[in-house]
Amino acid sequence: MPKGSIKVNEPPPPTLTVPPEHSTKYKGVKHTILVMSGKGGVGKSTFSVNLAVSLASMGYRVGLIDADINGPDDPKMLGVSEMKLYARDNLIMPVQSKYGVSVISMGFMLPNENTAVIWRGALRHKAIKQFLEDVYWENTDFVIVDFPPGTGDEAISVAQLIPEATDGVIIVITPQEVALLDAKKVLNFAEMLKVKVIGLVENMSGFVCPHCGNEVDIFKKGGGESIARSNNIDFLGRIPIIPEIVNSSDSGVPAVTTDRTTKKIYEEISTKIVKKLSGKPKG
Ligand SMILES: Nc1ncnc2c1ncn2[C@@H]1O[C@H](COP(=O)(O)OP(=O)(O)OP(=O)(O)O)[C@@H](O)[C@H]1O
Ligand SMILES: [Mg+2]
Repeated sequence: MPKGSIKVNEPPPPTLTVPPEHSTKYKGVKHTILVMSGKGGVGKSTFSVNLAVSLASMGYRVGLIDADINGPDDPKMLGVSEMKLYARDNLIMPVQSKYGVSVISMGFMLPNENTAVIWRGALRHKAIKQFLEDVYWENTDFVIVDFPPGTGDEAISVAQLIPEATDGVIIVITPQEVALLDAKKVLNFAEMLKVKVIGLVENMSGFVCPHCGNEVDIFKKGGGESIARSNNIDFLGRIPIIPEIVNSSDSGVPAVTTDRTTKKIYEEISTKIVKKLSGKPKG
């Protein structure tokens, strides 16, 4: 740049204001998968729970971290919301569900499900750190981490605490334009924090009418595939709107255990993930 001239209209490169803090205590887990979305309510928790149960039914030892501190849904979806935590050898034992998935969640620490958690970022970071470090995850093949929507404190905490242990992010989207746009923010997050992207899942993608059998694209369809292609990431699959999924989330019985269509879709997605991650050497 010539002397005396001022460069304008160029914003500084984005920087992270939170200093990285690496954890050395998160041990015994072969693969850690982060489930994120830019937008709320797209089905992250449903996906995390059903993916976890699907992997467990394939014979893997699976853990689930409910990283949604303010809105923990995973215990209810796994039918274990009434269970209590206990400790062994100074570690918290995750709650065992009958579907072969052990889960840790803020939900187990609240007096009842209507209790609001009103915590600022620093406290949420502390809770996430405990979920990683102070919980017994020894001998686990997959830990799935279910985040609240967006790229906030919880996701930053995990990405910075265990950068080496994290296999990458799975982005859940629904096919509306706004959800697709928000997915790009997660891609941006992953790039900035140097976390790999395992792939993208399009949830609530079309609806097959149980009466006439016709497929209706309530939120459009196919946007996920094109976003995956244009960003050079893997498309892991489409999950349609399946009424059984709503019923089973509410009743604490994951749909992969009750609905054949859901089971098959999740088996295909799980197989893709296992295949992709098994090529990756782990420490
Ligand atoms: N494929 C699907 N078919 C039908 N209903 C679905 C499907 N996926 C999710 N749902 C329903 O949509 C609602 C929202 O799902 P879920 O709680 O998993 O979203 P989320 O992304 O975790 O939300 P949040 O951003 O609040 O954490 C739930 O009632 C769930 O049962
Ligand atoms: Mg959720």
